[in-house]
Amino acid sequence: MKYDFDTLTDRRGTESVKWDEFSPEALPMWVADMDFKVAPAIREALQRRLDHGIFGYELVPQDYFDAVSSWFSRRHGWEGIRRENVIPTTGVIPAYSACIKAFTSPGDKVIVQTPCYNAFFPAIRNNRCEESVNALIYRDGQYSIDFNDLERKAADPRATVLLLCNPQNPAGRVWKREELLRIAEICLRNGVFVISDEIHCELTYPGHDYTPYGTLPEEYVLRSATCCSPTKAFNIAGIQIANIIAKDPDVVRKIDRAINDNECCDVNVFGVAALKAAYNESVEWLDELRAYLFDNYLMLKDFLSRELPAVSCLPLEGTYLVWLDCSSYRRKGEPAEGFSERLNAHLRDRAGLVLSCGTIYGAAGEGFQRMNIACPRERLVEGLRRLKNGLEGYKNALP
Ligand SMILES: Cc1ncc(COP(=O)(O)O)c(C=O)c1O
Repeated sequence: MKYDFDTLTDRRGTESVKWDEFSPEALPMWVADMDFKVAPAIREALQRRLDHGIFGYELVPQDYFDAVSSWFSRRHGWEGIRRENVIPTTGVIPAYSACIKAFTSPGDKVIVQTPCYNAFFPAIRNNRCEESVNALIYRDGQYSIDFNDLERKAADPRATVLLLCNPQNPAGRVWKREELLRIAEICLRNGVFVISDEIHCELTYPGHDYTPYGTLPEEYVLRSATCCSPTKAFNIAGIQIANIIAKDPDVVRKIDRAINDNECCDVNVFGVAALKAAYNESVEWLDELRAYLFDNYLMLKDFLSRELPAVSCLPLEGTYLVWLDCSSYRRKGEPAEGFSERLNAHLRDRAGLVLSCGTIYGAAGEGFQRMNIACPRERLVEGLRRLKNGLEGYKNALP
């Protein structure tokens, strides 16, 4: 490997949400950022920008839009993204929140497919809407979409938007083109606008290619907006930069209005430099990263099958967030309700391992914990050791 993903960097005391929120002894494997230094080209670009020494308001330049367009065309076969289709903003959360604002009225329903990214819920409520839950089907250790239920939910006249997560956090699915086409057909037929959060799109594993919603037939794309960003894959979440991509000029105009209403239309100077360096110069780093992450996943699976066979690990098609079904660790007589929270607290307080509790992703996450495996292998080994101690301790402890 040309790039180094093995070095342990101490992130404590750097005002890191992941590392500095809990006790210094706890190993954080929760929030979605990675313990790897970013690609050299990104660091160099940021250094050049820093050396300039002046950080006034940023005019987003044409070569920023060219970098976005060229990346999605080269990497994902998504052609024809032009400057007028791209609205830069400060993050994917502000991006989808503005899209919700643009395509709903207070009291509308926004369809979500649970378990889903926890920050979908506040964005829906902050826009005075309510969620309509189209829970994924969990069968034989796999997730799939409940299309019959989606038909029903989409037919509700109050349902005006579907907030899609492609690839899906935390279920780890990378939606296939056929699945997206069925979603698109149901939504278009029922007048439901699709907002597709594609922040995890670069992080996919062998046999699971990402299909941009924007590459579906035009009739569907015209009733959609895609929110994407290089921040997850290139580990620059703290720099805060994202884009909304939409084809229909009227859709772009409405989102632009909402972005301006929310006052989140100015971007960070470092975000512009980092995005260009990521998309234009860091592809080799990204491919090595994906190989490293996939090996981490294989190692985790191997560990679980040997040491913790009662934990069921969902297939990781994309993202670096492993979804662990720990429901068999519920103690005899222990109520199902609150089990995930109790187990999560036990792992944190007794085993020194911070995971994300399954139920923050909706009721469908009961029994699950989400583990972030984007770290050097040595740290993953330690995390797995703590997981084993914690789970065994939980099972043996008195309720
Ligand atoms: C699906 C999804 N969307 C959005 C975000 C956050 O995006 P941002 O930090 O750009 O607001 C995350 C972070 O984990 C995520 O998993």
